[in-house]
Amino acid sequence: VIPDAAEVENRLRAAGCVFAGDEARLLIGDASTSEDLERMLEQRCAGVPLEHILGWTEFCALRIAVTPGVFVPRPRTELLARTAAGLAASMPPPRIVVDLCCGSGAVGAAVAALVPEVELHAADADRRAVDCARSNVPGSVYHGSLYEPLPAGLRGRVDVVVANAPYVPTAEIATLPAEARLHEPLAALDGGTDGLAILREVIAGAPEWLRPGGSVAVESSEAQAPAVVAAMVTVGLAARIVHDEEFDATAVAGVFSP
Ligand SMILES: C[S@@+](CC[C@H](N)C(=O)[O-])C[C@H]1O[C@@H](n2cnc3c(N)ncnc32)[C@H](O)[C@@H]1O
Repeated sequence: VIPDAAEVENRLRAAGCVFAGDEARLLIGDASTSEDLERMLEQRCAGVPLEHILGWTEFCALRIAVTPGVFVPRPRTELLARTAAGLAASMPPPRIVVDLCCGSGAVGAAVAALVPEVELHAADADRRAVDCARSNVPGSVYHGSLYEPLPAGLRGRVDVVVANAPYVPTAEIATLPAEARLHEPLAALDGGTDGLAILREVIAGAPEWLRPGGSVAVESSEAQAPAVVAAMVTVGLAARIVHDEEFDATAVAGVFSP
């Protein structure tokens, strides 16, 4: 017998889940038996992220598979995906899009869903992310650090490099919610002393891979954005900041005009 929604909601609320009503509906909707639901509830009450229990999350209206050990795509990152989609759409087809630090592959998958005629390449340094991304990405997924695993033939031909790389400063990792600290890999979160170590590498490498008029788009915090702009300007990109107050989301886009 499936417990009623109110009982499930009460247990979730007692365990500290802020959106207990929504989560109860999702867990009940996904459970096929009462034993299944009980197992999911126990995991959730023990702090496992809802998305890892369900095995999916919604991102830009897509259902994205998310497996344990893989970063859960955040709603704020939809701004980055939409920014990258706008940049890709401004280029003539077929558009070559590279999603670096792809995690589950949500960002690249969203760009490919939003823009016609996209040739998508995604890559991540974590094998678990690569395996997960292969179920979400309508394109190729490579295993390795940043640009290193990409086919050499893409050099100078990419229309958009998009990356939601780790950007939390090392000292701030301890202040993240337990769900992130305990259930997402440190390498998916930690961006080094000022949070920008990996983003700087993404930006510095972009001119080698972009075609003239191509762009790089990355996410950062609002406070980091001016430093991200400076990193783009240093390598000859014309940069602008995009911000969404409601989602506390910031993306920085740079156009390569050699
Ligand atoms: C913040 S998560 C973002 C994942 C995905 N882009 C998203 O928005 O859901 C960062 C990802 O970067 C990957 N990563 C960290 N360092 C990397 C590197 N040097 N090269 C490639 N991927 C890296 C991590 O494995 C993780 O999947």
